[in-house]
Amino acid sequence: MDKFVIRGATPLLGTVRVSGAKNAALPAMAAALLTDEPIILENIPQVRDIETERKLLASMGAEVELGYGRAQHRTTISCHKLLSPEAPYDLVKTMRASTLVLGPLVARAGVARVSLPGGCAIGARPIDLHMKGLECLGASIIQEHGYIEARAERLRGGHIVFDRITVTGTEDLLMAASLAEGETVMENCAREPEVADLAALLTKMGARIEGAGTSTIRVHGVSKLHGARHRIIPDRIEAGTFIIAGALTAGDLMVAGCEPRHLTSLLQKLEAVGAKIRIDGDTVRVTGDSALKASDMSTEEYPGFPTDMQAQYMVVATQSEGTSVITENIFENRFMHAQELLRMGANIKIEGRRATIRGKTPLSAAAVLASDLRASASLVLAALVADGETIIDRVYHIDRGYERIEEKLRGVGARMKRIGEMLPRREGVTA
Ligand code: EPU
Repeated sequence: MDKFVIRGATPLLGTVRVSGAKNAALPAMAAALLTDEPIILENIPQVRDIETERKLLASMGAEVELGYGRAQHRTTISCHKLLSPEAPYDLVKTMRASTLVLGPLVARAGVARVSLPGGCAIGARPIDLHMKGLECLGASIIQEHGYIEARAERLRGGHIVFDRITVTGTEDLLMAASLAEGETVMENCAREPEVADLAALLTKMGARIEGAGTSTIRVHGVSKLHGARHRIIPDRIEAGTFIIAGALTAGDLMVAGCEPRHLTSLLQKLEAVGAKIRIDGDTVRVTGDSALKASDMSTEEYPGFPTDMQAQYMVVATQSEGTSVITENIFENRFMHAQELLRMGANIKIEGRRATIRGKTPLSAAAVLASDLRASASLVLAALVADGETIIDRVYHIDRGYERIEEKLRGVGARMKRIGEMLPRREGVTA
């Protein structure tokens, strides 16, 4: 298992480029199941979750062609035939977003068999709202042996009101409704940019969608969708992670190739704590030369502060003067990183969904364990400001969603390397 070794306390200087958004690429790849013509996707990040989705689509009979060389971020998916409309447990357990194939499979093949994902490191994360929505569109659903089986000769339009806002739930049903007969109205939808990006792709494929990116989406179902070419939006969470790295290390960092409009709540919060932010086109420049001051933060659905940046913001709170209260409103168990930050010298108290952080505390390097994707990112940030050499174990979590993070950060001055499992040194042997 790979580890990261990071020597901290170096300001990050220069330009780092952002990759395509993992959470926009995953639904876009699932959308390829809706048509028998090729879907060409550009700006696909080279991360582990994309590889898992490629395997999933291939297991159903899709041809997934990966670009190489200069086209390495392009993927072409052709789904002429659907051999097996099933998402097996082995793949779903490694990536919950596999459930995004549920809607497209029922819509295209009339049947889908998808493993129930079960809980994960950040919460229970049920998918009841995906199922309820599909039932609204006329699917019949049975659950047995850990699988959901959904069937519908042809889905028909319906009125879906989500009991709570769900990102992949909105995406799943948007795809299903695109091929349903008649009109679907979906209310209380997720407004995340990734939903709007999926709608942009579906529209290029011939879908008729209004209101994506707002809380009410209207879909006029069509009987067939066709091939399309689409460029995935930049990853706002990767961008945000780098921006925080610049602010924390008192650096002068240009985060290029991002969409600053998708980062508004984060940038406002970072300005409130004292980071200097300048926007120039698709580049955010961050300088962190003055002392940071505490500011409370609550995670919310977009356009609020993203839960996927909460762990990283907690590191900012440890380096800010005063007390910050962080409230996690989206997931019930997303503070695993706090235990590791405590081991590095942070002062954090957790009560239910609230974390109280007293700063500023110096962080000191330690051996730490990554527990999930964004928790791992927060440990990298903590290591960048810590005194000494931090070793982060289980970095496969970070590889799920950050493309070559160590190379990107090294390019702007971080002292960071990846090491494989080392063999124990034999007694009496000197290196
Ligand atoms: N929820 C339900 N029932 C459902 C669906 C969701 O109760 O049927 C609850 C969840 O348990 C959670 C809340 O609703 O408490 C919101 O969950 P949501 O469905 O929005 O999350 P998701 O779609 O499973 C996506 C991202 C996550 C991100 C969340 C919230 C993808 C592939 N994943 O997950 O990204 O944290 O939205 O913004 O888009 C990550 O990238 O690290 C990550 C976890």
